[in-house]
Amino acid sequence: MKTTALIKDIRTQVTQWKREGKRVAFVPTMGNLHQGHITLVEQAKQYADHIVVSIFVNPMQFGQNEDFDGYPRTYERDSQKLIAAGADLLFMPTPDIIYPKGLAQQTYVEVPEFGDELCGASRPGHFKGVATIVNKLFNIVQPDVALFGRKDFQQLLVIKTMVEDLSLPIEIIGVETIREASGLAMSSRNGYLTEGEKHRAASLKQAMDQIASDIQQGIPIEQAISAASQYITQVGFRVDYIEVRSAKTLAKAQPSDSELVIVAAAYLGKARLIDNQCFNR
Ligand code: PAF
Repeated sequence: MKTTALIKDIRTQVTQWKREGKRVAFVPTMGNLHQGHITLVEQAKQYADHIVVSIFVNPMQFGQNEDFDGYPRTYERDSQKLIAAGADLLFMPTPDIIYPKGLAQQTYVEVPEFGDELCGASRPGHFKGVATIVNKLFNIVQPDVALFGRKDFQQLLVIKTMVEDLSLPIEIIGVETIREASGLAMSSRNGYLTEGEKHRAASLKQAMDQIASDIQQGIPIEQAISAASQYITQVGFRVDYIEVRSAKTLAKAQPSDSELVIVAAAYLGKARLIDNQCFNR
């Protein structure tokens, strides 16, 4: 696996692959890789001949009081994992390569649909930062296909919408969430949890299972959510939001919607955990 911080190296390599008629898959990450990321790389092999991964902790998607400085940077370990997973090219730019004029002067991409609610409401500007960096990385790598985890359900919708709205010739693949044996969704931010918190964190998944089962049995959505919120609050979470939405559009669930998604964000200790669960009623 070749590693570079330079845009021109990525362009040279990808151009050569394309000239040879090869397909290129891309997995953008912020590093601190876990099995969820590795699964994206492994699945990418189904769609392309070569896999490019990026590691860039993107300052534009962090709010002022968020964990940008403390976000774990584990480059050496990440690089070993990517070699073992079969990635071909690793792009690890520095912020001045990505944002040479600084963030204030940076042209940005904003997806008005979905961008300001749920995580967008709790983290103003977050999805503008995500859409901008993903668009920029797409322009640098020019992949045929890009893979993202479904754990970040809203992010995936924002990216799919951006790709459609801007007519980008890239196929977006959402990959199933990888979970610990306890049910806890794998996330780079699980590293902020103590052992005891990690054990309790699994109750977020249990709460979502309960909501889905309640709604399938005819219990009103608000009642199911209220019971689940109480449960995880007792466990020690501070709920940011738990909502049931249309799985197709992320709009408020209507009585006619059969494909639903539970979206949840909650704080436990220093970690803000997000998760989701699709189900049919
Ligand atoms: O999901 C992430 O790790 C990030 O939001 C992404 C897509 C790599 C953009 O920085």
